[in-house]
Amino acid sequence: MKIVETRAGLSELIAVYKREGAKVGFVPTMGALHEGRLSLVEQSVASCTKTVVSIFVNPTQFNDPRDLAKYPRTLEQDIALLRSSGCDVVFAPSVEEMYPEPDTRVFDLSPFDRVMEGASRPGHFDGVAQVVSKLFEFVNPDEAFFGEKDYQQLAIIRLMVRQLGLSLTITGCPIVREPDGLAMSSRNRLLSPELRAVAPSIYRALNEATLLGRSLPVEVIRERVIAQINGSAGLQTEYFEVMDADRLIPVSSWNSAPRIRGFVAVRAGLIRLIDNVPLG
Ligand code: PAJ
Repeated sequence: MKIVETRAGLSELIAVYKREGAKVGFVPTMGALHEGRLSLVEQSVASCTKTVVSIFVNPTQFNDPRDLAKYPRTLEQDIALLRSSGCDVVFAPSVEEMYPEPDTRVFDLSPFDRVMEGASRPGHFDGVAQVVSKLFEFVNPDEAFFGEKDYQQLAIIRLMVRQLGLSLTITGCPIVREPDGLAMSSRNRLLSPELRAVAPSIYRALNEATLLGRSLPVEVIRERVIAQINGSAGLQTEYFEVMDADRLIPVSSWNSAPRIRGFVAVRAGLIRLIDNVPLG
């Protein structure tokens, strides 16, 4: 496994792979790898001949500088995990390498960036689009892998790829969960034992909504999910949205769209957890 920190070093390797006719897979991450993030690497290794993983905590997608400062940085451990994953190249650039000039590009991601995570984190998705568009340019992958854990991010990346006319495949990967159902996230380890114990009720409520599906009106499902989550001590639902899974527009009836998904953000003390499931 090669570890490169510069764009020039990365380009040299990619050029060799392309000459060899390799299919290059790419997994962008911010490090702090866990089974959820590593599942994307597994998928890339399975479907591509070379896999590049980037580890870069992107400052432009953080609204709160305190969040950026607090973000876990575990490069040595991440590299060790990647060594046994089949990854070929780790690209771990510095902020100066990624942004020799400030990136002030604003993307037209509407309406996808107006709802849910976009509404509560202004500028966040412009930051994601800035870094991912640059990484796509540097890596020039044939296929890139994103988790459905951040379903809205995945939808926005697909939109950006269409808008920029890029010729790569975007593959969405299923959410990896703890045995008790909690979606894996680097934030889970920040939960107190009490909040960690109640956090699985988020997925229980979502799962029940999936099972009930079309048997109840959308609004009734919404109310039930919110009541169920808020019924656990310490959990407070920020939003639960039932949306057209392709257009990310809220729906009020099950017939409004062919694919419908439920999206939730929950405050657990100071930690914010997100999850989503297919519905109806
Ligand atoms: P990061 O939070 O490190 O996530 C890297 C990838 O892992 C994302 O595509 C995310 O959706 C996926 N992922 C995280 N938890 C998962 C889980 N439990 N199951 C399946 N996939 C999971 O998302 C980012 O980084 C950044 O915004 C990035 C795209 C790298 C741009 O900076």
